[in-house]
Amino acid sequence: MPDDASAWAASPLLPWPREVEHLEVKLDVARRIAQRAAGGQVIGIGSGSAAFLALAAIGRRVTDEQLDLRVIPTSYETEVAASRLQLPLARLGQVNPDWAVDGADEIDPGGRLLKGRGGALFREKLLWNTSAKMVLAIDPSKHVQRLGSRFPIPIEVHPNAVELVAARLTELGARMALVRTGTGKDGPVFTESAFVLLDAHFDEIAPGLHAVIKAMPGVLETGLFVGYEYEIFE
Ligand code: A5P
Repeated sequence: MPDDASAWAASPLLPWPREVEHLEVKLDVARRIAQRAAGGQVIGIGSGSAAFLALAAIGRRVTDEQLDLRVIPTSYETEVAASRLQLPLARLGQVNPDWAVDGADEIDPGGRLLKGRGGALFREKLLWNTSAKMVLAIDPSKHVQRLGSRFPIPIEVHPNAVELVAARLTELGARMALVRTGTGKDGPVFTESAFVLLDAHFDEIAPGLHAVIKAMPGVLETGLFVGYEYEIFE
């Protein structure tokens, strides 16, 4: 069992599937964020490597200081990690977190976020809408001038609605809308909510695009996080 965030990141047992980009920055951010953990809290844990490392750093403090807290994971990867760290779990929808940590794929100068490379969009949105406070864990590479310039907009879609939603996205101006496929299995990636992901490439993300996409039949959530308050650690 790795005993701190850094050892966790380097462990051959790490269930994180890729090399963590900007590891040193993320480790520093994780340790600073973990200082917020205190006994009695319920802490939400988003998805992605920064959230994952924050969870490991919180786990270290729980072990060292015998903190009595619970965590709410938004993805299977953080749920498995929390179990391995022997952290008591709470469930989204059962209790609202005192605070939560999450990462992002892009942040624009207006503070709008693009998320969802990890695919757990719906559970992340639930977290952002129920947590009393949000902490964003990012590295400097996440800053962009235009949202969507580095990543497509991920859209969590019921499998039966893929054709319909892809056609509507094209009508809205998407250059491409592709079903995300797995690397560890054949076929599509299935989300924590057993939906699939359409990655939609837009040259321009118009105000209100999220609401238009959300209104399509079969769409559960999009990766556009706009209008949320949060504190940034980077
Ligand atoms: C999860 O769906 C994503 O939005 C993550 O928050 C994002 O991909 C985080 O990236 P890092 O792995 O760089 O933290």
